Amino acid sequence: MAVSQTNFAWATLVEVGGPGRLHDRLAHALRTAIRDGRLPEGAAVPPSRALAEELGCSRWVVTEAYGQLVAEGYLAARVGSATRVAWSPEAVPRRPRARRAEARPAIRYDLAPGLPDLRAFPRRRWADAVRSVIGSAGHYDLDLPDPAGHAVLRSTLAQYLRRSRGADADPSSLFVCAGVTDGLVRTCRALAAEGITDLAVEHPGWARLRDAAASTGLRVHLVPVDDDGLRVDDLARTPARAVVVGAAHQFPTGTVLSPTRRAGLVRWARDVGGYVIEDDYDAEFRYDHHPVAVMQGMDPGRVFLLGTVSKTLSPALGLGWLVAPTIAVPALRAANPVAAAPPVLDQLALASFIDRGWYDAHLRASRRRFRTRRDLLLTTLATELPRARVSGTAAGLHVLLHLPDDTDTGAAVRAAASAGLRLVDLDDYRVRRSSDRALVLGYGNIGDTEIPAAVALLRESLTR
Ligand SMILES: Cc1ncc(COP(=O)(O)O)c(C=O)c1O
Repeated sequence: MAVSQTNFAWATLVEVGGPGRLHDRLAHALRTAIRDGRLPEGAAVPPSRALAEELGCSRWVVTEAYGQLVAEGYLAARVGSATRVAWSPEAVPRRPRARRAEARPAIRYDLAPGLPDLRAFPRRRWADAVRSVIGSAGHYDLDLPDPAGHAVLRSTLAQYLRRSRGADADPSSLFVCAGVTDGLVRTCRALAAEGITDLAVEHPGWARLRDAAASTGLRVHLVPVDDDGLRVDDLARTPARAVVVGAAHQFPTGTVLSPTRRAGLVRWARDVGGYVIEDDYDAEFRYDHHPVAVMQGMDPGRVFLLGTVSKTLSPALGLGWLVAPTIAVPALRAANPVAAAPPVLDQLALASFIDRGWYDAHLRASRRRFRTRRDLLLTTLATELPRARVSGTAAGLHVLLHLPDDTDTGAAVRAAASAGLRLVDLDDYRVRRSSDRALVLGYGNIGDTEIPAAVALLRESLTR
């Protein structure tokens, strides 16, 4: 459509303020107005003298700007006729609008495993810790960071792990990393560099660990889990020389590796000249007695210990640790030449949070909260779903809910999702299907008062 009027409020339309040369700013303002359609194709721009008067600049400024835009094809000048806009934004396909960050589906109740109580994140104390380290960090703390982690956090964590997890941990063999997954990738790279080609993981298990190990080029073998944890006899039949094990609380079955199996696993590692990689992801939470000490203390030369704050504080922090056998420390450094520890100020904040006793206090409060919530979940399930059976040690943040063999768990998960309840099928953690129909119910990230309504929705989803 040809538009011939030039009665725009030019001074408003082309805002020419800001830094830079005036004719460049005018050209930029006109170009922008043309690109976004405020100056439509065919519109005549004012004669250079008129626009110069309106903008209070010299005529030269306007002719320079027009000349530039003619050269770029935004304007067309014809002798004896007005200079007109020669370009239309519709002439090029519009760039698809950048989508906003993926919105999560509306979840009213969250019974998926994996999260601690995000509402109970100790915001005030964490903010205090961050504020205090920003104030107290020395100049050298802001230097290029040590890829193994800041010395202060390494020493705090080593002490914490000795005191609360019975680990044989020393700052010199402790690496700060972004969590268990990151720690596993680093460990696998080091093992691969040392000639290990095959690694075993538990089945069922968290696929991310499997994928993390496979991403480093190792061949991954699946080893079944029974009521005593990982089956060491089956492990011994694989070519693996390393194994990832959730000794304190296997995910997702919730079993604890029995004392005989623990000893058997360490013997296996010695026999094959291999390593155990202990995933201590949620071991701080045990409700029937004290948490079982880590296996790593049994043979620190054969066991790597991986830990995280993902289950105790929040996975958003991306902070964890890796305690390596002393002999493996050079290989870990060499095999991960560009792996960096998490941001130094976050590391120092965690050190301060632990040193001030706030981590222990948070763990104590969390244990109390989760113990009560687990009890409430179990009694509600027993009333609402009397045919279902719950399994899993009184630990961690999830239980298994075993359902009658004819249950379509996949359909139940979908029905629940459409009603705003998040559930996870045990099959999601299996590579091979099994006849055992079960859901993995997490109780970390749901309020106590929401449990009755969530379980009622769960029952409805199962009967739909
Ligand atoms: C079995 C298992 N290990 C470890 C983790 C924690 O991993 P990260 O520290 O990488 O968040 C999880 C989290 O869901 C898990 O399920």
